[in-house]
Amino acid sequence: MDLIQIKGGNFLEGEINISGSKNASLPMVIASLLTKDKVIIRNIPNLSDVSTLLELIETLGSEFELKNENNSSYKLIIQTKKIKNNLASYNLVRKMRASFWVLAPLILRYGEAKVSLPGGCAIGIRPINFYLSMLEKMGALITIKDGYVQASVRNNLKPINYKLDFPSVGVTHFFLMMSSLIEGESILRNAAMEPEVISLAKMLNKMGAHITGHGTNKIIVKGCSYLKGLDIISPPDRIEAGTYALALAATGGKLKLNSISIREIETLRYLLENTDVNIKSHKNSIELIKKNRIIQPTDIETKPYPGFPTDLQAQFMALMTYSKGRSRIKETIFENRFMHVQELVRLGAKIELQSDTAIVDGVKKLYGAPLMATDLRASASLIIAALRAEGTSTIRRVYHLDRGFDKIEEKLKSCGAAIERKRDKNE
Ligand code: EPZ
Repeated sequence: MDLIQIKGGNFLEGEINISGSKNASLPMVIASLLTKDKVIIRNIPNLSDVSTLLELIETLGSEFELKNENNSSYKLIIQTKKIKNNLASYNLVRKMRASFWVLAPLILRYGEAKVSLPGGCAIGIRPINFYLSMLEKMGALITIKDGYVQASVRNNLKPINYKLDFPSVGVTHFFLMMSSLIEGESILRNAAMEPEVISLAKMLNKMGAHITGHGTNKIIVKGCSYLKGLDIISPPDRIEAGTYALALAATGGKLKLNSISIREIETLRYLLENTDVNIKSHKNSIELIKKNRIIQPTDIETKPYPGFPTDLQAQFMALMTYSKGRSRIKETIFENRFMHVQELVRLGAKIELQSDTAIVDGVKKLYGAPLMATDLRASASLIIAALRAEGTSTIRRVYHLDRGFDKIEEKLKSCGAAIERKRDKNE
């Protein structure tokens, strides 16, 4: 295992190439199994979550090749002529919960599937009740046995008119994939509106689907009998970009983020400007400048898109630990997404948890300490806090970071951060 060592205090100055979006690429890779034609997806990020998914779908019958493209992202050439195996094993699904979404292509192309329950993770129990009730309404027969969802289709699947209790991103992806190949008109209300839903819908439409309303809370899909191959580009990672923008806000300095436009981090823009980050947006890059190190206390509440993204909550909290006052950070999406709090407190942060809200009283200084990464975005939050802390911090179990951030230490080091990745002799 590796650890990351950071000596805090440096300003960030330089350019960072934003990689392809993890949360757009994963559903797009799964959607490639909906056709037996060849599919090319460009700008796939070099992340362990992508490798885990590819390992799984290879067992299902996909053949693929990853070719290096520019700025360390990949071009994926993939073809699933036949589904050879309809079992998605616990060993792989537990490593990356979104793998559960392969249930859609397996049922649609094979007629039955056995997919491991994804299980919970550090940030919550992550139930799948919406997926199962949707599938049953479509006419699939579902049983849960030995930790697996066993689903089969006796007759044709039926189009549905379904209202989500909560605008789940994953269930919206699942609906798009399923209904694209179910004859008739399906409607999803209270649908997720995230940009990743839009990119999946655009991909499916380019494959021959008839989807309208994506990006709004009501999506209508007219099913077709066949989806064809395509060549498509995965969008840039808005959470990666937001993470670096918040790091700049914490350290001060000047960062140019390439391959991203300001509209991808619109939800952050006003918060950054509110804490004296000057933003210059160009067609395909964003320049961020922060001359001072003063941080304004700011209250946020995570919400489904277009609200403040839960995937930036931990990183935003790291910034607020240095603010001039009190900030309230309310997490409304996941029930346990405060694992970073106790680690930030180890650096000297003043944070009190009151059920779903963290009360953060900013301090002048944090002090480097040994830290433990607990989940993907929490790890990024520790890096942001450590970049400004006095002294050296050591962050262990950085495999959490590798799930969603491509070479974060190299990208920060190239901008002047005193950051090193080393083998962890103690693990
Ligand atoms: C996606 O997860 C993202 N993952 C998450 O990013 C992101 O935090 C989340 O959407 C919310 O934006 C990927 O895209 C791979 P949800 P997903 O279904 O689809 C509840 C990261 O750090 N729910 O929108 O699993 C659920 O418990 C990851 O990149 C049910 O109750 O999230 C949660 O409270 C973390 N029943 C809420 O909905 C269900 O059947 C939102 O979850 C499904 C979900």
